[in-house]
Amino acid sequence: MDQPLFVPQRMEIVSVTDEVDSHDILTFELRPLDGEIAPYLPGQFAELSVFGVGEATFGYASSPHETETVRFSVKRMGALTQELHRLGVGATVGLRGPLGNPFDLARFEGRDLIVVGGGYAFTTLRSLIAYLLTDAQRPKVGHISLFYGVRSPGLFLYKEELARWEKAENFSLHLTVDAADENWKGPVMVVPALVEKVAPDTRNAVAVICGPPPMIKYTLPVLEKLDLKPEEVFISMEMKMKCGVGLCGRCNLGPKFVCKDGPIFTLKELRELTDVY
Ligand SMILES: Cc1cc2nc3c(=O)[nH]c(=O)nc-3n(C[C@H](O)[C@H](O)[C@H](O)COP(=O)(O)OP(=O)(O)OC[C@H]3O[C@@H](n4cnc5c(N)ncnc54)[C@H](O)[C@@H]3O)c2cc1C
Ligand code: FES
Repeated sequence: MDQPLFVPQRMEIVSVTDEVDSHDILTFELRPLDGEIAPYLPGQFAELSVFGVGEATFGYASSPHETETVRFSVKRMGALTQELHRLGVGATVGLRGPLGNPFDLARFEGRDLIVVGGGYAFTTLRSLIAYLLTDAQRPKVGHISLFYGVRSPGLFLYKEELARWEKAENFSLHLTVDAADENWKGPVMVVPALVEKVAPDTRNAVAVICGPPPMIKYTLPVLEKLDLKPEEVFISMEMKMKCGVGLCGRCNLGPKFVCKDGPIFTLKELRELTDVY
């Protein structure tokens, strides 16, 4: 039976991973207490609830091929996330989802991928890349170039996985930081500058961007300079949300709702909705 729209599914926290040196991003692995995991695809999000506190929006960090549990990486911000961070293994939370549209993977088929991410929004990109690297999906896309930037080296999410991806075939990993420490040997610059410097081959490419609004804003002109067309650039938008299903009007972008029509839009679609980009 389908889960009713506004009734959270009860989930048990089965593991908690402290991801970064600042200890303010935890990855929660959740297993359903009733029923099954509702099928989802990379790019979609869910509303997680702590009973008696409220709900907030989080992109799936797990990949659909991980069938027993789902994972969300949560940065401590306000009321909900502070309370979530206090909960440990064995606690029960609520989940409404999946919500929103996934990446249109059919449009990535046969294409190289330029993936650009920053900050905690990288959670959604982790889901996408982990899924595309499965045996079933990998042959469908060409070369993957991943650009990922954070403020300092200790703030990279999923460090062990990044180390594995670095060795993957047909995959280039480009990490950058705003400020280096004594062990950092890589570039020290913002993500858009790194994309410009590396100048990936765009002849058969599509681009995916997920990150803080300034990163998106300054990456777009770089991609356009590299000759990517607005319909070939896919952007995951983040807006303050409430209902997550297009009913409350909290997340509108012109006539569209980011929660229901998005959060993934092409640059072409965004330009028809707003003059910000
Ligand atoms: C589609 C989508 C996916 C998201 N995925 C993740 C994720 O994977 N991991 C994660 O940690 N967070 C994610 N977020 C952000 C998360 O929903 C907010 O940080 C949420 O408000 C935290 O709830 P809170 O009650 O703890 O904080 P609140 O009390 O709601 O807010 C704390 C502070 O964050 C600001 N804020 C809230 N939401 C946003 C937003 N969307 N953009 C900018 N500022 C905001 C508020 O104005 C306030 O200053 C996502 C948001 C969206 C819309
Ligand atoms: S969050 Fe309610 S309409 Fe989008």
